[in-house]
Amino acid sequence: VPLERIRNFSIVAHIDHGKSTLADRILEVVGAISISKDNKQILDKLQVERERGITVKAQTASFIYDYQGQDMLLNLIDTPGHVDFSAEVSKSLASCQGVILVVDAKQGVQAQTVSNYNLAVANDLAVVPVLNKIDLPEVDLDSCLNQLESLFDIDPNSVILASAKSGIGIEEILDAVVDRILPPLTHGQGDSLKFLLQDSWYDQYKGAVGLIQVFDGVLKLGDEITSVKTKKTYNVKSLGILTPEEVSVPAIHPGQIGFFTCNMKTTKEAIVGDTFHRINRPVEPILHVSTPNPMVYSGFYPTESSYYSNLKTAIDKISLNDSSVSIDPETSPALGSGWRIGFLGLLHMEVFSQRLQQEFDAEVILTQPSVPYKIIPKPHLVKKFGQEIWVKTPKDWVDKDVAETYLEPIVKGTIIVPEEYMQQVASLCSSCRGIAEDTTFVDQTRVRMVYTLPLSDIVTNFFDDLKRITSGYGSFDYEDAGYIHSQLIKVDILLNGKPVPELSFLSNPSKARPTGKIKVAKLKELLPRQLYDVAIQATRGKTILARETIKAARKDVTAKCYGGDLTRKQKLLKNQAEGKKRLRAIGNIQVSKETFIKVLTNK
Ligand code: GTP
Repeated sequence: VPLERIRNFSIVAHIDHGKSTLADRILEVVGAISISKDNKQILDKLQVERERGITVKAQTASFIYDYQGQDMLLNLIDTPGHVDFSAEVSKSLASCQGVILVVDAKQGVQAQTVSNYNLAVANDLAVVPVLNKIDLPEVDLDSCLNQLESLFDIDPNSVILASAKSGIGIEEILDAVVDRILPPLTHGQGDSLKFLLQDSWYDQYKGAVGLIQVFDGVLKLGDEITSVKTKKTYNVKSLGILTPEEVSVPAIHPGQIGFFTCNMKTTKEAIVGDTFHRINRPVEPILHVSTPNPMVYSGFYPTESSYYSNLKTAIDKISLNDSSVSIDPETSPALGSGWRIGFLGLLHMEVFSQRLQQEFDAEVILTQPSVPYKIIPKPHLVKKFGQEIWVKTPKDWVDKDVAETYLEPIVKGTIIVPEEYMQQVASLCSSCRGIAEDTTFVDQTRVRMVYTLPLSDIVTNFFDDLKRITSGYGSFDYEDAGYIHSQLIKVDILLNGKPVPELSFLSNPSKARPTGKIKVAKLKELLPRQLYDVAIQATRGKTILARETIKAARKDVTAKCYGGDLTRKQKLLKNQAEGKKRLRAIGNIQVSKETFIKVLTNK
C-alpha cells in the first residue's frame, strides 16, 4: 500500500465513554473480527483490563478499509486512556497523525476528555470528534455540541453522531479518519532504516516482542539493527502485523505498524520510545524519551511470610511487561520482607495490584501510598549528600540541620461537576491545600474547576471523597505540575514513649495534627488493653500533636470462666498462645500484625 493510503490513528476517551466498544465495532465493520460474546473487546488482552473495562497496555490492529472503491490501510493504535499512563500515551501518539475523540452523549465532556484533547493538540494531531451513545434516551446533543465548541473550539458540524453499540455512524467515522487525518510522514530514501519501538511485552514462547512503527526504509527478516538508546545490535528473527491476530510478514514498510522479535534477552532491553536503525547507519532518535519517574509509592507485603517467594515471582512477571514500575526490597519489623514499589499514579498502582491478585492469585498487603519528596541540602552539605536528596519514606527523612529546602510534587487537577456541587468541591480542594486556578462553565449546568493540588493529598482519599460529595457526578483528572517549595515535617507515633518506626509519616505541618489524631484514635480502638496504662502519642520532635490513653485491664483471659469448664479454659489459653506468635513487642506492649495492617493500610 502506498503511503498516501495509510492512516495511523488512536481512539481516546474518558473512562467508559465507549472507546473499546467503538474499536470492536470498527474491526467488525471492516471484517477484521466477528464479534461474539467471548471475543468482545478483543483489543483489551489482559484480564484486569476486561474486568475494570480499562485499557492499560497499548494494543494495535491493522486493517484494510474500502474508501470509495480504494483500499486504505488503517492502523488503529490503542492507547492507554488514563493520564497515569501519559508517558505511554505520548509514545503511542508519536506514531499517529490523528485521534478519534469519543464523548459520551449522555455524560458530555468529562475531565479526561479535556486531558485527552490537550494531549492530542500538544502532539499536533488531527482530532475527529465523535458523540457516542446517541441511541440512549434523553441525550442532550445540543448541549454536548456546545461544550465541544466552547471548550475546544470544535465546529459542531464536524462532530460525528454515533452509537458504537448499535453501529450508527461507524462508516462516517472511518471516512473522517481517511479525510481528516494525514498519511504518515516518512523520508525513506535508499537503504536507510529508522523505526520506533512503541510498546513491548514478554511472550512465554517468543521472548521479548516489540511493537514498532517504521518511519524510514523497509525492515526485513534477518536485518541487523541497532538501538539508539543502548547501542546494542540485534538480528531480526520474526516480523508480523496485528489484525488484531498476529500474522507473520516478511517485511514492514514505511508508515506501517507491526511487531518484531530479535535476540533480546529481556523486555528491559526493549525500551519503549527507543529508535532503531540499520547497523553502522546511525540516525537521530524519533522521540527523546526520558524514563518517567514514579510518583506514588506503596509497600507491598505478603500476608504470610511463607508466601514471599510466590509474591516475588508474580511481581517479577508483571514488571516484565511494565517498565514504568520501580521495585526496591523493603523490610518492616511488623510485616516482614516485602517491597517498596513506585508507580506513575494511583490508577497504575491499582491495576498492578489487581493483576497480582487476578493473574497470580497473590494475596498482598498494600501500605498507604506516599509520594516522593525532594530535599535540597544546605550548600556546605551538597558535597556529602549531592544536589538533592529523594525522600520516599520516613526512613529517608533528613532534618532541618541538613535540609535547606523541602520540595513536594504538585498536580494540576481538572474537575468537572454539576454546578450545584461547586461549593462542596471547593471546600474539598481547600481542605487538600488546593489553590483554585480557574472555573468556567462548560454548559448551562456544569462547571470545570481547575486546581493546583499537592499530590500527597490526592493519593489518600481524594477520588473517593470527590465521588461521595458529588453523588458520583464529579469527574477528576490530573497531570504533573512539577515540584514546589513546601513545609514538611516528620511525625512519629509512640507507644508508652517508644517509637514505632513503621507508623511514622511525613506531612505538611497543617495536616500533621489531624492525621496524627486519626492514627492515634485508630490505635486506641485496635490495641487490646494491657495490665498497665498505655499512652499513644503522635509527636513532632518533642512536641506532642495528639494523645490517647488506654486504661489498664486485667489480663487473665480465663477470669470470666468460673469453676468447672476446663476445656473452655484450655481453649482460651491455647488461642492466646497462638495469637502471641503474631505479636511484636514495642517496649513492653504487644502489637499484633493485624493491628499494624489496619493502621498501615488505613482500612
Ligand atoms: P475504558 O476502556 O474503561 O476507558 O472504557 P471505554 O471507553 O473503552 O468504554 P467501553 O467501550 O468499555 O464502554 C463502556 C460502557 O458503555 C459499556 O457498558 C458499553 O456497553 C457502553 N457503550 C459503549 N458504546 C455505547 C453506545 O453507543 N450506546 C450505549 N447505549 N452504550 C454504549
